[in-house]
Amino acid sequence: MKKPENCVIVIFGASGDLTKRKLIPAIYDLYKQNNLPERFAVLGTASSQFDTKEFRQLMGEAIVESDKDSPDNKVAEFTGKLHYFPMDFKNAEGYEKLSKEIHSLSGTCGSECNYIYYLATIPALFPEITLNLGKAGLNKSAGGFCRIIVEKPFGYDLNSAIELNKVMHGVFEEDQIYRIDHYLGKETVQNIMVTRFANGIFEPIWNRNYIHHIEVTSSENIGIENRGGYYETAGALRDMVQSHLLRLVTLIAMEPPSSFDSDAVRNEQLKVLQSLRKLKPEEVDSNVIRGQYISSVINGNIVKAYREEKGVDPESRVETYAAIKFYIDNWRWGSVPFYIRTGKHLPTRVTEAVIHFRKTPHYLFKESQNNSDNQLILRIQPDEGILLKFGMKEPGSGFKVHNVSMDFHYKDITNVYIPEAYERLIYDCMVGDSTLFLRADAVEEAWKFVEPIQKAWTDNGSVKIYGYPAGTWGPDVADKLIDGGDNTSWRYPCKNLADDGIYCEL
Ligand code: BG6
Repeated sequence: MKKPENCVIVIFGASGDLTKRKLIPAIYDLYKQNNLPERFAVLGTASSQFDTKEFRQLMGEAIVESDKDSPDNKVAEFTGKLHYFPMDFKNAEGYEKLSKEIHSLSGTCGSECNYIYYLATIPALFPEITLNLGKAGLNKSAGGFCRIIVEKPFGYDLNSAIELNKVMHGVFEEDQIYRIDHYLGKETVQNIMVTRFANGIFEPIWNRNYIHHIEVTSSENIGIENRGGYYETAGALRDMVQSHLLRLVTLIAMEPPSSFDSDAVRNEQLKVLQSLRKLKPEEVDSNVIRGQYISSVINGNIVKAYREEKGVDPESRVETYAAIKFYIDNWRWGSVPFYIRTGKHLPTRVTEAVIHFRKTPHYLFKESQNNSDNQLILRIQPDEGILLKFGMKEPGSGFKVHNVSMDFHYKDITNVYIPEAYERLIYDCMVGDSTLFLRADAVEEAWKFVEPIQKAWTDNGSVKIYGYPAGTWGPDVADKLIDGGDNTSWRYPCKNLADDGIYCEL
Protein backbone atom coordinates (compact mmCIF):
# COMPACT_ATOMS: atom_id res chain seq x y z
CA MET A 1 0.00 0.00 0.00
CA LYS A 2 1.07 3.54 -0.73
CA LYS A 3 2.72 5.18 2.27
CA PRO A 4 0.87 8.39 3.22
CA GLU A 5 2.81 11.63 3.51
CA ASN A 6 3.84 12.80 6.97
CA CYS A 7 0.95 14.45 8.78
CA VAL A 8 -0.67 15.69 11.94
CA ILE A 9 -4.22 14.47 12.61
CA VAL A 10 -6.27 16.77 14.81
CA ILE A 11 -9.38 15.20 16.35
CA PHE A 12 -12.09 17.58 17.54
CA GLY A 13 -14.23 15.83 20.11
CA ALA A 14 -11.36 13.71 21.40
CA SER A 15 -13.01 12.93 24.73
CA GLY A 16 -16.06 11.43 23.02
CA ASP A 17 -17.15 7.91 22.45
CA LEU A 18 -16.37 7.83 18.73
CA THR A 19 -12.72 8.78 19.30
CA LYS A 20 -12.29 6.16 21.98
CA ARG A 21 -14.18 3.31 20.35
CA LYS A 22 -13.42 3.83 16.67
CA LEU A 23 -10.96 6.56 15.67
CA ILE A 24 -7.98 5.87 17.91
CA PRO A 25 -8.24 2.06 17.51
CA ALA A 26 -8.43 2.60 13.73
CA ILE A 27 -5.35 4.85 13.66
CA TYR A 28 -3.59 2.34 15.90
CA ASP A 29 -4.45 -0.47 13.45
CA LEU A 30 -2.95 1.60 10.63
CA TYR A 31 0.14 1.96 12.78
CA LYS A 32 0.30 -1.80 13.41
CA GLN A 33 -0.09 -2.51 9.71
CA ASN A 34 2.72 -0.05 8.98
CA ASN A 35 0.35 2.13 6.97
CA LEU A 36 0.94 5.40 8.77
CA PRO A 37 3.46 7.93 7.50
CA GLU A 38 7.05 7.79 8.67
CA ARG A 39 6.38 10.79 10.86
CA PHE A 40 2.98 11.61 12.28
CA ALA A 41 1.24 12.92 15.39
CA VAL A 42 -2.33 12.86 16.62
CA LEU A 43 -3.61 15.86 18.54
CA GLY A 44 -6.85 15.31 20.44
CA THR A 45 -8.87 18.31 21.49
CA ALA A 46 -12.07 18.70 23.51
CA SER A 47 -13.37 20.70 26.44
CA SER A 48 -12.45 18.02 29.01
CA GLN A 49 -9.48 19.10 31.07
CA PHE A 50 -7.05 16.18 30.59
CA ASP A 51 -3.38 16.53 29.98
CA THR A 52 -1.46 14.59 27.35
CA LYS A 53 -0.39 11.96 29.88
CA GLU A 54 -3.98 11.22 30.90
CA PHE A 55 -5.12 11.22 27.28
CA ARG A 56 -2.44 8.68 26.36
CA GLN A 57 -3.46 6.53 29.29
CA LEU A 58 -7.18 6.63 28.32
CA MET A 59 -6.53 5.96 24.66
CA GLY A 60 -4.13 3.13 25.51
CA GLU A 61 -6.91 1.49 27.53
CA ALA A 62 -9.35 2.00 24.65
CA ILE A 63 -6.93 0.29 22.25
CA VAL A 64 -6.49 -2.69 24.54
CA GLU A 65 -10.26 -2.86 24.97
CA SER A 66 -10.72 -3.15 21.21
CA ASP A 67 -7.67 -5.34 20.56
CA LYS A 68 -6.99 -7.58 23.55
CA ASP A 69 -3.94 -9.20 21.96
CA SER A 70 -2.08 -6.00 21.32
CA PRO A 71 1.48 -6.11 22.67
CA ASP A 72 2.01 -3.51 25.42
CA ASN A 73 5.16 -2.09 23.87
CA LYS A 74 3.41 -1.47 20.54
CA VAL A 75 0.53 0.31 22.28
CA ALA A 76 2.96 2.41 24.33
CA GLU A 77 5.00 3.26 21.21
CA PHE A 78 1.82 4.41 19.48
CA THR A 79 0.30 6.36 22.38
CA GLY A 80 3.62 8.23 22.58
CA LYS A 81 2.51 9.94 19.34
CA LEU A 82 -0.73 11.20 20.90
CA HIS A 83 -1.11 14.69 22.34
CA TYR A 84 -3.97 16.55 23.95
CA PHE A 85 -5.03 20.18 23.96
CA PRO A 86 -8.11 21.21 26.00
CA MET A 87 -10.21 23.95 24.44
CA ASP A 88 -13.68 25.44 24.20
CA PHE A 89 -14.64 25.18 20.52
CA LYS A 90 -16.85 28.24 20.78
CA ASN A 91 -14.02 30.50 21.90
CA ALA A 92 -12.37 31.94 18.78
CA GLU A 93 -9.20 32.92 20.66
CA GLY A 94 -8.55 29.31 21.55
CA TYR A 95 -7.83 28.58 17.86
CA GLU A 96 -4.74 30.83 17.89
CA LYS A 97 -3.36 28.70 20.71
CA LEU A 98 -4.47 25.57 18.90
CA SER A 99 -2.65 26.76 15.81
CA LYS A 100 0.56 27.17 17.83
CA GLU A 101 0.08 23.72 19.31
CA ILE A 102 -0.43 22.19 15.86
CA HIS A 103 2.58 23.98 14.46
CA SER A 104 4.73 22.90 17.37
CA LEU A 105 3.79 19.32 16.46
CA SER A 106 4.61 19.93 12.81
CA GLY A 107 8.22 19.49 13.85
CA THR A 108 7.38 15.82 14.30
CA CYS A 109 6.52 15.55 10.65
CA GLY A 110 9.00 17.87 9.01
CA SER A 111 8.80 21.30 7.39
CA GLU A 112 6.24 20.44 4.72
CA CYS A 113 3.65 19.20 7.10
CA ASN A 114 0.16 18.06 6.15
CA TYR A 115 -2.91 18.40 8.32
CA ILE A 116 -6.11 16.44 8.72
CA TYR A 117 -8.87 17.76 10.95
CA TYR A 118 -11.44 15.23 12.08
CA LEU A 119 -14.74 16.71 13.26
CA ALA A 120 -16.08 14.13 15.72
CA THR A 121 -18.03 16.56 17.87
CA ILE A 122 -21.79 17.06 18.07
CA PRO A 123 -22.93 18.24 14.60
CA ALA A 124 -24.10 21.62 15.93
CA LEU A 125 -20.43 22.57 16.35
CA PHE A 126 -19.33 21.76 12.78
CA PRO A 127 -19.96 25.27 11.33
CA GLU A 128 -18.32 27.07 14.24
CA ILE A 129 -15.20 24.92 14.24
CA THR A 130 -14.88 25.23 10.46
CA LEU A 131 -15.19 29.03 10.52
CA ASN A 132 -12.69 29.31 13.34
CA LEU A 133 -10.20 27.06 11.57
CA GLY A 134 -10.45 29.42 8.61
CA LYS A 135 -9.99 32.53 10.77
CA ALA A 136 -6.89 31.02 12.36
CA GLY A 137 -5.48 30.29 8.88
CA LEU A 138 -5.59 26.55 9.57
CA ASN A 139 -7.35 25.77 6.28
CA LYS A 140 -4.12 25.75 4.30
CA SER A 141 -0.65 24.45 4.70
CA ALA A 142 2.36 25.90 2.93
CA GLY A 143 3.73 23.17 0.73
CA GLY A 144 1.49 20.43 2.08
CA PHE A 145 -2.15 19.39 2.14
CA CYS A 146 -4.88 20.27 4.55
CA ARG A 147 -8.05 18.15 4.68
CA ILE A 148 -11.12 18.00 6.87
CA ILE A 149 -13.16 14.91 7.69
CA VAL A 150 -16.74 15.57 8.77
CA GLU A 151 -18.73 12.97 10.65
CA LYS A 152 -22.37 12.25 9.98
CA PRO A 153 -25.05 13.49 10.25
CA PHE A 154 -24.17 16.17 7.72
CA GLY A 155 -27.01 18.59 8.43
CA TYR A 156 -30.33 18.01 10.07
CA ASP A 157 -32.45 18.50 6.98
CA LEU A 158 -32.00 19.81 3.45
CA ASN A 159 -31.64 23.47 4.41
CA SER A 160 -29.17 22.86 7.19
CA ALA A 161 -27.10 20.60 4.89
CA ILE A 162 -27.05 23.33 2.21
CA GLU A 163 -26.09 25.86 4.87
CA LEU A 164 -23.31 23.62 6.23
CA ASN A 165 -21.98 23.05 2.72
CA LYS A 166 -21.91 26.82 2.19
CA VAL A 167 -20.00 27.39 5.42
CA MET A 168 -17.52 24.65 4.57
CA HIS A 169 -17.02 25.88 1.02
CA GLY A 170 -16.30 29.34 2.41
CA VAL A 171 -13.26 27.92 4.20
CA PHE A 172 -12.22 24.75 2.36
CA GLU A 173 -12.29 23.69 -1.29
CA GLU A 174 -14.58 20.74 -2.06
CA ASP A 175 -11.55 18.50 -2.66
CA GLN A 176 -10.35 19.20 0.90
CA ILE A 177 -13.66 18.05 2.42
CA TYR A 178 -14.15 14.38 3.28
CA ARG A 179 -17.74 13.71 4.41
CA ILE A 180 -17.67 10.34 6.04
CA ASP A 181 -20.25 7.57 6.09
CA HIS A 182 -18.53 4.64 7.76
CA TYR A 183 -20.67 2.13 5.81
CA LEU A 184 -18.63 3.00 2.72
CA GLY A 185 -15.52 1.89 4.60
CA LYS A 186 -16.89 -1.62 5.08
CA GLU A 187 -15.28 -4.24 2.84
CA THR A 188 -18.61 -5.89 2.15
CA VAL A 189 -20.19 -2.60 1.09
CA GLN A 190 -17.35 -1.94 -1.35
CA ASN A 191 -17.78 -5.49 -2.55
CA ILE A 192 -21.23 -4.62 -3.89
CA MET A 193 -19.48 -2.67 -6.66
CA VAL A 194 -16.99 -5.46 -7.25
CA THR A 195 -19.71 -8.13 -7.39
CA ARG A 196 -21.60 -6.09 -9.94
CA PHE A 197 -18.80 -4.65 -12.05
CA ALA A 198 -16.09 -7.32 -11.97
CA ASN A 199 -18.42 -10.12 -13.10
CA GLY A 200 -20.07 -10.43 -16.46
CA ILE A 201 -22.92 -12.64 -15.26
CA PHE A 202 -24.80 -10.12 -13.18
CA GLU A 203 -25.08 -7.08 -15.43
CA PRO A 204 -27.46 -8.57 -18.04
CA ILE A 205 -30.00 -9.50 -15.35
CA TRP A 206 -29.49 -6.51 -13.04
CA ASN A 207 -32.55 -4.57 -14.12
CA ARG A 208 -36.36 -4.36 -14.13
CA ASN A 209 -36.68 -7.22 -16.63
CA TYR A 210 -35.25 -9.81 -14.25
CA ILE A 211 -35.48 -8.27 -10.80
CA HIS A 212 -38.86 -8.27 -9.08
CA HIS A 213 -37.99 -6.22 -6.01
CA ILE A 214 -35.11 -5.40 -3.71
CA GLU A 215 -35.04 -5.24 0.07
CA VAL A 216 -32.36 -3.76 2.25
CA THR A 217 -32.35 -4.38 5.99
CA SER A 218 -30.13 -2.95 8.66
CA SER A 219 -31.30 -4.22 12.01
CA GLU A 220 -29.69 -3.82 15.40
CA ASN A 221 -30.39 -5.79 18.54
CA ILE A 222 -29.30 -2.97 20.82
CA GLY A 223 -31.36 0.04 21.84
CA ILE A 224 -30.17 3.63 21.79
CA GLU A 225 -27.68 2.91 24.60
CA ASN A 226 -26.73 6.20 26.27
CA ARG A 227 -27.42 8.35 23.23
CA GLY A 228 -30.93 9.55 24.15
CA GLY A 229 -30.03 13.23 23.72
CA TYR A 230 -28.68 12.71 20.21
CA TYR A 231 -31.29 10.18 19.15
CA GLU A 232 -34.17 12.47 20.07
CA THR A 233 -32.86 14.91 17.43
CA ALA A 234 -32.25 12.17 14.87
CA GLY A 235 -34.51 9.10 14.87
CA ALA A 236 -33.99 6.16 12.55
CA LEU A 237 -34.72 8.23 9.44
CA ARG A 238 -31.86 10.67 9.93
CA ASP A 239 -29.56 8.31 11.82
CA MET A 240 -29.66 5.34 9.42
CA VAL A 241 -31.87 5.90 6.35
CA GLN A 242 -30.54 9.24 5.09
CA SER A 243 -27.01 7.94 5.40
CA HIS A 244 -26.19 4.24 5.53
CA LEU A 245 -29.28 2.77 3.86
CA LEU A 246 -29.32 5.20 0.96
CA ARG A 247 -25.61 4.51 0.47
CA LEU A 248 -26.38 0.82 0.07
CA VAL A 249 -29.21 1.60 -2.34
CA THR A 250 -26.96 3.77 -4.51
CA LEU A 251 -24.33 1.03 -4.79
CA ILE A 252 -26.93 -1.56 -5.72
CA ALA A 253 -28.70 0.68 -8.23
CA MET A 254 -25.91 2.76 -9.83
CA GLU A 255 -24.84 2.43 -13.46
CA PRO A 256 -21.32 1.17 -14.15
CA PRO A 257 -18.99 4.20 -14.05
CA SER A 258 -16.70 4.89 -16.99
CA SER A 259 -13.67 4.41 -14.73
CA PHE A 260 -12.96 3.87 -11.07
CA ASP A 261 -11.98 7.46 -10.70
CA SER A 262 -13.50 9.17 -7.64
CA ASP A 263 -15.64 11.60 -9.64
CA ALA A 264 -16.79 9.02 -12.18
CA VAL A 265 -18.00 6.73 -9.36
CA ARG A 266 -19.63 9.53 -7.40
CA ASN A 267 -21.35 10.95 -10.50
CA GLU A 268 -23.14 7.62 -11.01
CA GLN A 269 -24.13 7.46 -7.36
CA LEU A 270 -25.51 10.98 -7.56
CA LYS A 271 -27.72 10.03 -10.52
CA VAL A 272 -29.39 7.32 -8.43
CA LEU A 273 -30.14 9.77 -5.65
CA GLN A 274 -31.52 12.24 -8.20
CA SER A 275 -33.81 9.52 -9.57
CA LEU A 276 -35.35 8.54 -6.24
CA ARG A 277 -39.08 9.19 -6.50
CA LYS A 278 -39.98 11.62 -3.74
CA LEU A 279 -43.10 10.75 -1.77
CA LYS A 280 -46.03 13.16 -1.82
CA PRO A 281 -47.36 14.15 1.64
CA GLU A 282 -50.49 12.01 1.18
CA GLU A 283 -48.34 8.96 0.19
CA VAL A 284 -46.20 8.94 3.31
CA ASP A 285 -48.61 7.12 5.60
CA SER A 286 -49.02 4.17 3.24
CA ASN A 287 -45.39 3.92 2.08
CA VAL A 288 -43.47 4.59 5.26
CA ILE A 289 -43.90 2.75 8.52
CA ARG A 290 -42.46 4.33 11.61
CA GLY A 291 -42.20 2.46 14.85
CA GLN A 292 -40.90 2.91 18.35
CA TYR A 293 -39.87 0.11 20.67
CA ILE A 294 -41.93 -0.52 23.75
CA SER A 295 -40.94 -2.42 26.85
CA SER A 296 -40.65 -6.19 26.72
CA VAL A 297 -38.83 -9.10 28.27
CA ILE A 298 -35.86 -10.53 26.36
CA ASN A 299 -34.19 -13.67 27.74
CA GLY A 300 -35.79 -13.05 31.11
CA ASN A 301 -34.59 -9.44 31.29
CA ILE A 302 -36.91 -6.46 31.22
CA VAL A 303 -36.04 -4.10 28.38
CA LYS A 304 -37.09 -0.48 28.83
CA ALA A 305 -39.35 1.24 26.33
CA TYR A 306 -37.72 3.97 24.22
CA ARG A 307 -39.75 6.56 26.10
CA GLU A 308 -38.22 5.39 29.38
CA GLU A 309 -34.63 5.75 28.17
CA LYS A 310 -32.38 8.43 29.66
CA GLY A 311 -32.61 11.74 27.80
CA VAL A 312 -35.83 10.78 26.00
CA ASP A 313 -39.11 12.69 26.24
CA PRO A 314 -41.70 10.39 27.90
CA GLU A 315 -44.11 11.37 25.09
CA SER A 316 -41.55 11.22 22.32
CA ARG A 317 -42.74 10.45 18.79
CA VAL A 318 -39.22 9.86 17.54
CA GLU A 319 -38.98 6.65 15.51
CA THR A 320 -36.59 3.86 16.42
CA TYR A 321 -37.79 1.87 13.38
CA ALA A 322 -38.48 2.93 9.80
CA ALA A 323 -39.49 0.93 6.73
CA ILE A 324 -39.99 2.59 3.36
CA LYS A 325 -41.25 1.46 -0.03
CA PHE A 326 -40.06 3.58 -2.94
CA TYR A 327 -39.10 3.60 -6.61
CA ILE A 328 -36.16 4.75 -8.65
CA ASP A 329 -37.38 6.54 -11.75
CA ASN A 330 -34.93 5.58 -14.45
CA TRP A 331 -34.73 3.02 -17.26
CA ARG A 332 -32.98 0.34 -15.27
CA TRP A 333 -35.31 0.38 -12.28
CA GLY A 334 -38.66 1.74 -13.50
CA SER A 335 -41.46 -0.19 -11.68
CA VAL A 336 -39.12 -2.20 -9.40
CA PRO A 337 -40.09 -1.55 -5.75
CA PHE A 338 -37.30 -1.02 -3.26
CA TYR A 339 -37.98 -1.75 0.40
CA ILE A 340 -35.66 -0.59 3.12
CA ARG A 341 -36.00 -1.03 6.86
CA THR A 342 -33.94 -0.34 9.91
CA GLY A 343 -34.56 -0.44 13.63
CA LYS A 344 -33.17 -0.61 17.13
CA HIS A 345 -34.01 -3.50 19.45
CA LEU A 346 -34.88 -5.88 16.64
CA PRO A 347 -34.12 -9.59 17.13
CA THR A 348 -30.61 -9.59 15.67
CA ARG A 349 -27.84 -7.43 14.23
CA VAL A 350 -27.85 -7.89 10.49
CA THR A 351 -27.26 -5.69 7.48
CA GLU A 352 -27.98 -7.17 4.07
CA ALA A 353 -29.55 -6.57 0.69
CA VAL A 354 -31.78 -9.17 -0.91
CA ILE A 355 -32.21 -9.10 -4.67
CA HIS A 356 -35.40 -10.96 -5.54
CA PHE A 357 -35.45 -12.18 -9.12
CA ARG A 358 -38.67 -12.66 -11.09
CA LYS A 359 -40.22 -16.11 -10.96
CA THR A 360 -40.30 -18.37 -13.98
CA PRO A 361 -43.11 -17.31 -16.33
CA HIS A 362 -44.69 -20.79 -16.32
CA TYR A 363 -44.12 -23.21 -13.45
CA LEU A 364 -43.80 -26.83 -14.58
CA PHE A 365 -43.27 -28.70 -11.33
CA LYS A 366 -46.77 -28.98 -9.89
CA GLU A 367 -45.69 -31.49 -7.20
CA SER A 368 -43.94 -28.63 -5.46
CA GLN A 369 -46.23 -26.13 -3.83
CA ASN A 370 -43.83 -23.25 -3.82
CA ASN A 371 -42.60 -21.58 -6.91
CA SER A 372 -40.03 -19.58 -4.94
CA ASP A 373 -38.12 -16.72 -6.40
CA ASN A 374 -34.36 -16.85 -6.77
CA GLN A 375 -32.62 -14.59 -4.32
CA LEU A 376 -29.16 -13.13 -4.23
CA ILE A 377 -28.25 -11.96 -0.76
CA LEU A 378 -25.42 -9.53 -0.25
CA ARG A 379 -24.59 -9.84 3.43
CA ILE A 380 -22.82 -6.82 4.87
CA GLN A 381 -22.62 -8.08 8.48
CA PRO A 382 -22.28 -10.42 10.35
CA ASP A 383 -21.22 -13.69 8.67
CA GLU A 384 -20.18 -11.48 5.76
CA GLY A 385 -20.63 -13.04 2.34
CA ILE A 386 -22.92 -13.73 -0.58
CA LEU A 387 -25.71 -16.27 -0.86
CA LEU A 388 -27.62 -17.45 -3.91
CA LYS A 389 -30.91 -19.30 -3.37
CA PHE A 390 -32.36 -21.44 -6.10
CA GLY A 391 -34.45 -24.58 -6.73
CA MET A 392 -32.96 -28.08 -7.23
CA LYS A 393 -34.56 -31.45 -7.84
CA GLU A 394 -35.15 -33.47 -4.71
CA PRO A 395 -33.59 -36.92 -5.30
CA GLY A 396 -36.15 -39.66 -5.95
CA SER A 397 -39.06 -40.29 -8.21
CA GLY A 398 -41.09 -37.45 -9.66
CA PHE A 399 -39.98 -33.86 -9.89
CA LYS A 400 -40.08 -32.21 -6.53
CA VAL A 401 -38.19 -28.95 -6.23
CA HIS A 402 -36.22 -28.10 -3.14
CA ASN A 403 -34.73 -24.69 -2.35
CA VAL A 404 -30.98 -24.77 -1.82
CA SER A 405 -28.35 -22.20 -0.98
CA MET A 406 -24.93 -21.59 -2.45
CA ASP A 407 -22.86 -19.37 -0.27
CA PHE A 408 -19.51 -17.63 -0.01
CA HIS A 409 -18.23 -16.42 3.36
CA TYR A 410 -15.47 -13.86 3.78
CA LYS A 411 -14.21 -15.78 6.79
CA ASP A 412 -13.17 -18.57 4.41
CA ILE A 413 -10.49 -16.33 2.93
CA THR A 414 -7.80 -16.91 5.47
CA ASN A 415 -4.61 -14.88 5.86
CA VAL A 416 -6.23 -11.79 4.48
CA TYR A 417 -6.26 -8.78 6.76
CA ILE A 418 -9.65 -7.08 6.64
CA PRO A 419 -9.42 -3.48 7.83
CA GLU A 420 -12.14 -1.89 9.93
CA ALA A 421 -14.28 0.73 8.17
CA TYR A 422 -12.70 3.73 9.91
CA GLU A 423 -9.21 2.40 9.29
CA ARG A 424 -9.81 2.21 5.56
CA LEU A 425 -11.42 5.65 5.39
CA ILE A 426 -8.79 7.48 7.45
CA TYR A 427 -6.12 5.90 5.27
CA ASP A 428 -7.97 6.97 2.10
CA CYS A 429 -8.15 10.53 3.37
CA MET A 430 -4.42 10.50 4.13
CA VAL A 431 -3.62 9.41 0.57
CA GLY A 432 -6.16 11.81 -0.93
CA ASP A 433 -8.63 9.28 -2.32
CA SER A 434 -12.18 10.61 -1.91
CA THR A 435 -14.02 7.81 -3.78
CA LEU A 436 -15.55 6.47 -0.57
CA PHE A 437 -16.56 9.86 0.79
CA LEU A 438 -19.67 11.89 0.03
CA ARG A 439 -19.73 14.86 -2.23
CA ALA A 440 -21.78 17.93 -1.28
CA ASP A 441 -24.35 17.28 -4.04
CA ALA A 442 -24.95 13.67 -2.92
CA VAL A 443 -25.63 14.68 0.66
CA GLU A 444 -28.15 17.28 -0.46
CA GLU A 445 -29.90 14.84 -2.82
CA ALA A 446 -30.25 12.29 -0.02
CA TRP A 447 -31.91 14.93 2.15
CA LYS A 448 -34.30 15.76 -0.70
CA PHE A 449 -35.60 12.19 -0.56
CA VAL A 450 -35.93 12.13 3.21
CA GLU A 451 -37.38 15.60 3.68
CA PRO A 452 -40.98 14.98 2.50
CA ILE A 453 -41.16 12.13 5.00
CA GLN A 454 -39.80 14.26 7.82
CA LYS A 455 -42.24 17.00 6.87
CA ALA A 456 -45.27 14.72 6.73
CA TRP A 457 -44.40 13.38 10.18
CA THR A 458 -44.08 16.82 11.72
CA ASP A 459 -46.92 18.52 9.82
CA ASN A 460 -49.49 15.80 10.13
CA GLY A 461 -50.13 14.58 13.66
CA SER A 462 -52.39 11.82 12.36
CA VAL A 463 -49.54 9.91 10.64
CA LYS A 464 -49.19 6.90 12.88
CA ILE A 465 -46.25 5.78 14.94
CA TYR A 466 -46.54 2.09 15.84
CA GLY A 467 -45.20 0.55 19.02
CA TYR A 468 -43.33 -2.75 18.73
CA PRO A 469 -42.08 -4.85 21.62
CA ALA A 470 -38.28 -4.69 21.89
CA GLY A 471 -36.80 -7.86 20.43
CA THR A 472 -39.38 -8.26 17.64
CA TRP A 473 -39.13 -7.48 13.94
CA GLY A 474 -40.87 -4.12 14.24
CA PRO A 475 -44.53 -3.20 13.74
CA ASP A 476 -46.64 -5.92 12.11
CA VAL A 477 -47.97 -3.43 9.56
CA ALA A 478 -44.51 -3.33 7.98
CA ASP A 479 -45.33 -6.80 6.61
CA LYS A 480 -48.19 -5.31 4.60
CA LEU A 481 -45.83 -2.77 3.06
CA ILE A 482 -43.95 -5.48 1.22
CA ASP A 483 -46.84 -7.81 0.48
CA GLY A 484 -47.22 -7.60 -3.28
CA GLY A 485 -49.99 -10.25 -3.18
CA ASP A 486 -47.57 -12.89 -4.44
CA ASN A 487 -46.36 -14.28 -1.12
CA THR A 488 -43.78 -11.55 -1.02
CA SER A 489 -42.53 -10.87 2.48
CA TRP A 490 -39.43 -9.57 4.17
CA ARG A 491 -36.64 -12.03 4.63
CA TYR A 492 -36.19 -12.58 8.37
CA PRO A 493 -32.42 -12.94 8.48
CA CYS A 494 -30.56 -14.93 11.10
CA LYS A 495 -27.03 -14.63 12.40
CA ASN A 496 -25.84 -17.17 9.84
CA LEU A 497 -26.09 -15.99 6.29
CA ALA A 498 -27.71 -19.13 4.93
CA ASP A 499 -30.54 -19.22 7.49
CA ASP A 500 -33.72 -17.24 7.67
CA GLY A 501 -37.13 -17.47 9.27
CA ILE A 502 -38.51 -16.57 12.62
CA TYR A 503 -36.95 -19.50 14.47
CA CYS A 504 -33.19 -19.46 14.03
CA GLU A 505 -30.03 -18.54 15.84
CA LEU A 506 -30.04 -14.79 16.31
C1 BG6 B 1 -24.19 4.90 13.30
C2 BG6 B 1 -25.51 5.23 13.94
O1 BG6 B 1 -23.92 5.75 12.23
O2 BG6 B 1 -24.26 3.55 12.80
C3 BG6 B 1 -25.81 4.26 15.06
O3 BG6 B 1 -25.45 6.56 14.47
C4 BG6 B 1 -25.75 2.84 14.57
O4 BG6 B 1 -27.08 4.52 15.64
C5 BG6 B 1 -24.46 2.58 13.81
O5 BG6 B 1 -25.82 1.99 15.70
C6 BG6 B 1 -24.49 1.23 13.13
O6 BG6 B 1 -23.21 0.97 12.61
P1 BG6 B 1 -22.70 -0.53 12.42
O7 BG6 B 1 -21.36 -0.38 11.77
O8 BG6 B 1 -22.63 -1.12 13.79
O9 BG6 B 1 -23.71 -1.21 11.56
